[in-house]
Amino acid sequence: MQKNKRPKPAAFHTRLQRWYDAQGRHDLPWRNTDDPYKIYVSEVMLQQTQVETVRTRFYTPFLKRFPTLSELAAASEQEVLSLWQGLGYYRRAGHLHAAAKQCGGKLPKTAEGLMQLPGIGRNTAHAIAAFAYHHPVAVMEANVKRVLCRIFAMPNPSESELWGKAEMLLNRAAPFDYNQAMMDLGAMICTRRAPKCGECPASSICEGKGNPESYPQAKVKKKVPVRKRNILVQVDDRGKFSVTPRSTKFLQGLYHFTEQDTPAPKHAKKIGEIEQSYSHFTLQAEVWLVKSRKKNAYSLAQLQKLPMSMAEKKILRLLAPHGTKRA
Ligand code: ADE
Repeated sequence: MQKNKRPKPAAFHTRLQRWYDAQGRHDLPWRNTDDPYKIYVSEVMLQQTQVETVRTRFYTPFLKRFPTLSELAAASEQEVLSLWQGLGYYRRAGHLHAAAKQCGGKLPKTAEGLMQLPGIGRNTAHAIAAFAYHHPVAVMEANVKRVLCRIFAMPNPSESELWGKAEMLLNRAAPFDYNQAMMDLGAMICTRRAPKCGECPASSICEGKGNPESYPQAKVKKKVPVRKRNILVQVDDRGKFSVTPRSTKFLQGLYHFTEQDTPAPKHAKKIGEIEQSYSHFTLQAEVWLVKSRKKNAYSLAQLQKLPMSMAEKKILRLLAPHGTKRA
């Protein structure tokens, strides 16, 4: 195909639709509802998490507990975080909760309106608008970006170039199926490694198919720093523990033990080590039990019911032999 010449989308749309009808992931639960709230929850969960993790562990319990936007708005931060535990990127839960409180039971009806809510960028707004309202807007999550880079042989495009191509290629007559199909194409055919170009419905318009793995250009992965810490678990003479909710932006609202980069006190007893990876650092911590004279609030059973990040959950497993002697 010559440069600057538009691909012929009509024939591609027909092929993509046929492929999606036959091979698409039609059983994903958020594709079988037209409730904008449920679609919104799925899109927020899917922002940084794999489809299978969301589908099998988080989407259904969250909606069972908060079946409507109003019920989510009425919940406490602690309850919302409890259902988000283990999904990571907890700021998403805070934004979802804040947005629910902001919109009085009804989500905005346009992508522009949706983008005014906390935590909703252009991609999420377009996904809700296309899937719940069938508005002709393009979705561009990570899989779709890769598909576009290959179709248009773009090794290193800017976001705005990508959006331009995404809107140009969109099938405006079928925004739901088209956008879901583009995501499936990226997840199932136009995969990062070893794409199956021979089976691809975009093959006739794809400029990158001769050398698909060159698009997009691989980014040099930044090494994340390691943070070494000592975590002090305060336990009183009844075997009760002390934890507090975090007030920092990172992991906000989740309960944690005392953490420091200085050595543990001399009288502390080491009970194990944990490691936890985050997007911007890896935590490597030694975990110490420290006898406290103050009375603490939580038995081990009570700790297990509090919203905590994966690192704290790992600490709870180390604590089992040191917990409450009596209630
Ligand atoms: N990622 C983001 N939205 C998605 C959807 N609707 N289906 C599959 N993966 C997705």
